[in-house]
Amino acid sequence: MLTGGGDAPGLNAVIRSAVRRGVTEYGFDFVGFRDGWLGPLEKKTQRLDLAATRGLLPKGGTVLGSSRTNPMKVEGGLERITANLAELEIDVMMAIGGEDTLGVAAALHDAGVRVIGVPKTIDNDLGATDYTFGFDTAVQIATDAIDRLHTTAESHHRVLVVEVMGRHAGWIALYSGMAGGATAILIPEEPFDLAQVTKWCETRLRRRYAPIIVVAEGALPAGGDLVTSDSRTDSFGHVRLSGIGEWLARELEERTGHEARTTVLGYVQRGGTPTARDRVLATRFGSHAIQAVADGQFGTMVALHGTEMVQVPLRDAVAQLKTVPPERYAEAKTFFG
Ligand code: F6P
Repeated sequence: MLTGGGDAPGLNAVIRSAVRRGVTEYGFDFVGFRDGWLGPLEKKTQRLDLAATRGLLPKGGTVLGSSRTNPMKVEGGLERITANLAELEIDVMMAIGGEDTLGVAAALHDAGVRVIGVPKTIDNDLGATDYTFGFDTAVQIATDAIDRLHTTAESHHRVLVVEVMGRHAGWIALYSGMAGGATAILIPEEPFDLAQVTKWCETRLRRRYAPIIVVAEGALPAGGDLVTSDSRTDSFGHVRLSGIGEWLARELEERTGHEARTTVLGYVQRGGTPTARDRVLATRFGSHAIQAVADGQFGTMVALHGTEMVQVPLRDAVAQLKTVPPERYAEAKTFFG
């Protein structure tokens, strides 16, 4: 088992659930791999038995460690992993991760490795599953922050911009912005018109309320480019985001004549204990992933459809990102300004 990519609250709950069910119901033995795909690449393993998973349910992060190591960027990487798995006598690889981690899992499956995927991302942008664990926690943290920012914004008659995570998909911004009563929600899927955002702020200021703008880190102005404060990329080619919030606050201060400030929530959204909802979802994912192993449904990912757990082909899961559809954004837009 391995956990790859950015961590998400609920990873440890998946590990605990899979090991508990696997050991007690099927008598499986588990091996943990350290730090995402780096583990099987370099045979970095960790003991993973019942004792090792005690107390993990509410714990944030991942006890296996994580990384954004991409074995497909390493010369002979996939072959090395295949050989290492055979040498360690691993029958099945359970990969818990987002589009990048599961993309590697799909390639390994094509190469003949028996793989089961578990979806993970706080961004909730994985296709083929309605929800991923970590998302609910991130939305709750962002909503709590927005609630707190309302009172300080109103005391100082300031425009406050809240930058939340969401590289390609604005789900966290959409949910927390709706829950927190944002003046506007700006998401990567819908390039925004700065003049319109200014108008929404002015409407709010006229009513003696202070505007709160929730912006996803991947949002961009219409006709403009992605605003980033750092041009470095990870091994999957993703540029490090963050910067749009600061840029927006500067622009809005100039245009509205009111002081504007930014709060970047950053890793606070990913750290710490999962919500009850995420613990339950993660537990169900772990348990059903073991069921899939027992049933020999290799090359699939466990997914939530409605309230049901289903297995979907890994290739379908990574084929397309799940972005916010225009009609969902339109629902939120009714409340802007
Ligand atoms: O897990 C996805 C994500 O939360 C993105 O929204 C964000 O851009 C990224 O992780 C940042 O993670 P890191 O800094 O660990 O690469």
